[in-house]
Amino acid sequence: EKGLRVQDKGFLNTAVLRSKITYIDGDAGILRYRGYPIEQLALQSSHLETAYLLIYGSLPTSAQYKVFQGEVMHHSVVHADAEQFFRSFRYDAHPMAILTSALAYLGSYYSEANPSLQGQNLFTKGDAASLAIIDKQIFRLIGKATTLAAMAYRVRQGRDFVTPPTGLSYTGSFLYQMDHLGETDYKPNPVLEKALDVLFLIHADHELNASATTVLQTGSSLVDPYSAVAAGCASLYGPLHGGANEAVIRMLISIGRPGNVPAFIEAVKKREKVLSGFGHRVYKTSDPRSFIVRKMADEVFEVTGKDELLETAMALHEAAMKDEYFVKRKLAPNVDFWSGLIYRAMGFPLDFFPVLFAVPRVVGWLAHWRQMMLQDGGVKIWRPRQIYVGAPKRDYVTMEQRV
Ligand code: SDX
Repeated sequence: EKGLRVQDKGFLNTAVLRSKITYIDGDAGILRYRGYPIEQLALQSSHLETAYLLIYGSLPTSAQYKVFQGEVMHHSVVHADAEQFFRSFRYDAHPMAILTSALAYLGSYYSEANPSLQGQNLFTKGDAASLAIIDKQIFRLIGKATTLAAMAYRVRQGRDFVTPPTGLSYTGSFLYQMDHLGETDYKPNPVLEKALDVLFLIHADHELNASATTVLQTGSSLVDPYSAVAAGCASLYGPLHGGANEAVIRMLISIGRPGNVPAFIEAVKKREKVLSGFGHRVYKTSDPRSFIVRKMADEVFEVTGKDELLETAMALHEAAMKDEYFVKRKLAPNVDFWSGLIYRAMGFPLDFFPVLFAVPRVVGWLAHWRQMMLQDGGVKIWRPRQIYVGAPKRDYVTMEQRV
């Protein structure tokens, strides 16, 4: 097999590159963005400031942040033509399918998105013109992610679209576009805006998860970043990945009362059910984000009132954490176990929850994409190998000869 090392069923434990962006210690339950512990960033930073950190490698000065924020917010506006694109979806289209399509649609706008042009531009690496194109693509995608998400939300309600407001934060502008119903003095609730911004921040990146790997695999062919990010969004849509926050709530609704938890646990142990929101490929003690989300939930419930599913979630959490089946398999809550309860309490529709994961994760996808675009030696297309275990050589036989 010419020295190939096979990992059955995909990248189970394979390091495919070196990165300076995010550090995870799965055994110690550590997550750091560019060396900063996630707990400190969640407490003291904002999603957009952390976006700058993830993409450019250092916390911005106030002058740097002002320019970055100005560029991102300037690019949050979407061309008017996009309205008919959004109106072309059925009223009940899943918002992640809409967002995935809309991200690829962005690529149809921009001349630099032309793959052959992309190749020329981005392949004189490091010069000012290439860096300027990379930055503008980043500003556009981060800025427009909230607008596209809000449009996906409003198209389902048959509502008009809202032009991104000025003077609000990144997350505030998103909530405004989601919920604005024409009031002249609408302002998002500051507690909910802060909570969502922290949730955005802790979802911004997570090393080489399935969707980030998809963005790099796709981007390694030098296709434009709009298409690469659309591919990442499609990967995140899956219930094993970003779709888990929606799956957790559906699971809790199906369990119903806390008294039904023991029967559900038994069904999981018989592999008849999956305990969504539990388990992780890398974290084998705890997902540090789950503690931040759990704490955030109590702050949000102060404003919105408690979700009746919280009792069921707490009963399920307690039962699973002390059950040998889960302890032996090192299964603990991941970032998705509690986050759906917050989104539900904030009034987001259930199938919109993965969109609330995708919007902030655009930052991490672009941080990895930019790191690849600027890597020494230029981009190499990702082309894994396989071990062939199929049929040996054999000769063709005609239909008549086949029995
Ligand atoms: C995210 O990669 C990332 O960083 C992702 C993410 C990010 O920020 O990008 O952190 C976000 O995707 C979090 C994960 C969200 N998904 C879910 O909550 C879905 C439920 N979780 C499982 O599907 C599972 O835990 C995975 C997919 C998350 C991880 O799967 P692995 O690493 O492939 O683990 P595995 O399937 O090999 O499980 C090991 C054992 C197996 O039992 P045995 O066959 O060895 O007896 O644990 C069992 C599994 O059956 N198991 C579960 C379980 N997760 C694993 N059993 C019941 N319920 C579960 N949730």
